[in-house]
Amino acid sequence: MAADETPPFRVVVLVSGDGSTLQALLDACSDPAYGVLVVAVGADRDGILALKRAESAGVPTFVSRPAEFDSRDDWDRAFAALVAEHRPDLVVSAGFMRLVGSDFLDRFGGRFINTHPALLPAFPGMHGARDALAHGVKVTGATVFLVDEGVDTGPVLAQRAVEVHDTDDESSLHERIKQVERAMLVDVVGRMAHAGWTVTGRKVTIP
Ligand code: GAR
Repeated sequence: MAADETPPFRVVVLVSGDGSTLQALLDACSDPAYGVLVVAVGADRDGILALKRAESAGVPTFVSRPAEFDSRDDWDRAFAALVAEHRPDLVVSAGFMRLVGSDFLDRFGGRFINTHPALLPAFPGMHGARDALAHGVKVTGATVFLVDEGVDTGPVLAQRAVEVHDTDDESSLHERIKQVERAMLVDVVGRMAHAGWTVTGRKVTIP
């Protein structure tokens, strides 16, 4: 690295599924001007497309299955240690369907973000798109937020709205949300990398 070059902003991405959100970040990172490096991708299960996407991009992966530990706390400690090995500036949960515990938050609280397919605090949990549709709302969307000890309760970094169509089913609505979500996450991570962020109570500011 030349003396005048800033080291890239190191991101560990956590996944449990297809990894289309991870792919959007990997694609953005291929432009050096984005200033972000995905240094590792971690998962709670094997055999998922997200891990294949990471491997195709030449990004190191690690997997830690909660079922292989005596307790959730043991898994949490081990998983946090695996993430820490990669010295992230930011940890991004991108379709990671697992709640972390106090060890993880002690290490990464304030620099651990998640993306959710609804306008929080509406429709938290595993099925944001399904729950919005079932409720009959006309507008839903996506939220990027800082993870705290609650379920999708942390301070909000960004939100974008998505209209619900009369013809939508869960899959069509979720796919439209995900398109917006990917672009928003890429934008937020890029701005955090370049400008940093401050948290005052529930208010997060990226200058
Ligand atoms: C995204 O819509 C993300 O918000 C959601 O999983 C999807 C991941 O898709 N996460 C949650 O619902 C977390 N509560 P992907 O695997 O294609 O990136």
